[in-house]
Amino acid sequence: MSTTNYIGKATSRVDGPAKVTGTATYAAEYHLPNMAYAYVVNSPIAKGKITKIHADEVLALPGVIQVFSHENVPSVAWLDKKHKDLVAPGGSPFRALQEPEIQFSQQPVALIVADTFELARYAASVLRIEYDEEKHETNLETQRAKGYEPGSGKTGFQPPPPPRGNPDKAWEAAEHRMEAEYVHGTQHHNPMELFSTTVEWRGEGQITAYDKTQGVFNVKNYLVGVFGLKKDDVRVVNEYMGGGFGSGLRPQYSVYLAVMASLELRRSVRLTLTRQQMFSFGHRPHVLQTVKLATNPDGSLAALQHHALHETSHFEDYTENVVNWSGMLYQCENVKLGYQLAKLDVFTPLDMRAPGAASGSIALEIAMDEMAYTAGLDPLEFRLRNYADRDQNVDKPFSSKKLRECYHQAAAKFGWEKRSQEPRSMREGKMLVGWGMAGGVWDATQQKSAAKASITADGKLTVMSGSGENGAGTYTIMTQIAAETMGLPLEAVSFKLGDTDQPEAPLQGGSWTAASVGTAIQSVCQDLAGKILKLAQKQDDSPLKDAKFEDVEFLNGQIRLRADHNQSVVIRDVLQASGEAKVEADGSTMPNMLKQKQYSLHAHNAVFVEVKVDEDLGTVHVTRVVNAIAAGRIINLKTARSQVLGSVVWGIGAALMEETVMDHKFGRYMNHNFAEYHVPVNADIHDIDVIFVDEEDDVVNPLGIKGIGEVGMLGVAAAVANAIHHATGKRVRDLPITIDKLL
Ligand code: MOS
Repeated sequence: MSTTNYIGKATSRVDGPAKVTGTATYAAEYHLPNMAYAYVVNSPIAKGKITKIHADEVLALPGVIQVFSHENVPSVAWLDKKHKDLVAPGGSPFRALQEPEIQFSQQPVALIVADTFELARYAASVLRIEYDEEKHETNLETQRAKGYEPGSGKTGFQPPPPPRGNPDKAWEAAEHRMEAEYVHGTQHHNPMELFSTTVEWRGEGQITAYDKTQGVFNVKNYLVGVFGLKKDDVRVVNEYMGGGFGSGLRPQYSVYLAVMASLELRRSVRLTLTRQQMFSFGHRPHVLQTVKLATNPDGSLAALQHHALHETSHFEDYTENVVNWSGMLYQCENVKLGYQLAKLDVFTPLDMRAPGAASGSIALEIAMDEMAYTAGLDPLEFRLRNYADRDQNVDKPFSSKKLRECYHQAAAKFGWEKRSQEPRSMREGKMLVGWGMAGGVWDATQQKSAAKASITADGKLTVMSGSGENGAGTYTIMTQIAAETMGLPLEAVSFKLGDTDQPEAPLQGGSWTAASVGTAIQSVCQDLAGKILKLAQKQDDSPLKDAKFEDVEFLNGQIRLRADHNQSVVIRDVLQASGEAKVEADGSTMPNMLKQKQYSLHAHNAVFVEVKVDEDLGTVHVTRVVNAIAAGRIINLKTARSQVLGSVVWGIGAALMEETVMDHKFGRYMNHNFAEYHVPVNADIHDIDVIFVDEEDDVVNPLGIKGIGEVGMLGVAAAVANAIHHATGKRVRDLPITIDKLL
């Protein structure tokens, strides 16, 4: 691509004004006539059975419309085989209110519908439910021996590659070696916006669900399958989202309950979960990892072993890629990777920002730091000596890999060369200063996506694709891509998303939205441009008469010959002269598998962190972070930087604060609120520097996009942990590194 009027430029969010003026409508903000309000009642026990629900007591309250429970929900639902959502793991999905059995603490057990939200909430607080409690097991530590390898064929599951070389022998024979266990607690996504569904009842079996989700099509297919509705009768809309981070990938029980209530009551219904209820489904799993590394005398890795065990529910085998990255990030001939699950009485874990990689890279990258110290090498030098030019997991070259540049550029910006290797060797007044680094790798993926573009005679372009806007900047970058391709000003382009009436887009996740939807937008806009060129050529005396599409460029509202810029026509004039009220193009794009299958497609990053630790108090301040990212083409430097700032904040949270703590006596997460589940706030965040390393890649997709949603988080938590070790001499392997672990 030669022209870059918009692509690659720092561009303010096109949806910014709508967001700050309150005209951007979120799922809980659709107001419908005669709407009823639903409120979920959750189980206080983790395992057992409901024996009695005293629904009559709350039904007697004036204004309470219905109490739904396993006793009265319709059984039309769950047309097996069809009800699955796209990202459901293997097993049998949780079906709210279908059975009296309790499978996890805070399981929804009843849904109260009332004339007002307050009344529904009050009724929920007084509803008496009796249970037969059974013994539960929620402690992963005690279930180690019950770990098992998940079967293949699960949605999205990538089993570890087979071992290579002789990792055990190489480890035994090596002079320098390390072995350690790393623990990563449970985390919850905690997006700002609560889960909510507003269901508009449009007539028998006809609904529009305004639902907080990362995939309107996934929710639509789920609802059609579960309730046996006609495809044309179900519409799902989500134009804005106050953060998802993976929590909205699967249709949540809230959307099922809201739609069930609406269909049963033949009335519009809104259901919003509370912050505490947001801890009742889906979390980053508690994971136990062991890493064994050994080096040769020249500092090259002699052996690498990485094993992970994490929790899943009794009803589904949730899997994520925790260990595979360790087989590709560094060059090593002797590698063994292991991965196991253990069943607990909890809800199924759920993808959460950089699922698997976030926790896997913590173990690997702290271990690499430990190994560097054991081998007497600078941690950066150690990584450079073990740089992988080829993906050894699949024995293929990378389509592009500028990780070395990430290391060098970030180290230079950070001033890494001034570091002294010895722990506790750097001080500033009474603060211990520590510098640590780490890195990461994430998939560059493109999914099938469809889009539609139409231009009216006034030169206004409307482009749509049923994607999502989780806050990452989808509206803005798609507008940029369309404007760039059509040579129109940004103001002339309107991009729409988040509606199943639009062409189908994939789930917004996996860092693939820019690559997937962006490619579709570019493609349909090129088609549309081709049609406009044809219209231009039909006109008498057209200077473009004999031009092929490749001979012209669309720029500044004009079509002109590349060879002679004076030979041009104005797009709006062409449209007006053509007599067409509207010109349209639609279509869908897929990754070029033929081209891609020869390569390994990945984005990389390198992170350098400074911490200051108060030795008396154990408090840690992350005073500086430099994060360099090689992720192909960056469409918008401003929104991309913002996204990476968020990633760094997430990494700092993972390193120092975030953990959902289970009280195994109750089998319940106890800190299910923002007072006790700590996330970084402004006062915790200091200097963050984001570098986007130039990386060209025409294998991933024509735009060269790899995606940045997850990669920016990788390495951050490990770099913080490594910096803390450098500052204090304490090696903490159990994250988050709270004050008590440093005293
Ligand atoms: Mo991401 S965890 O695929 O939303």
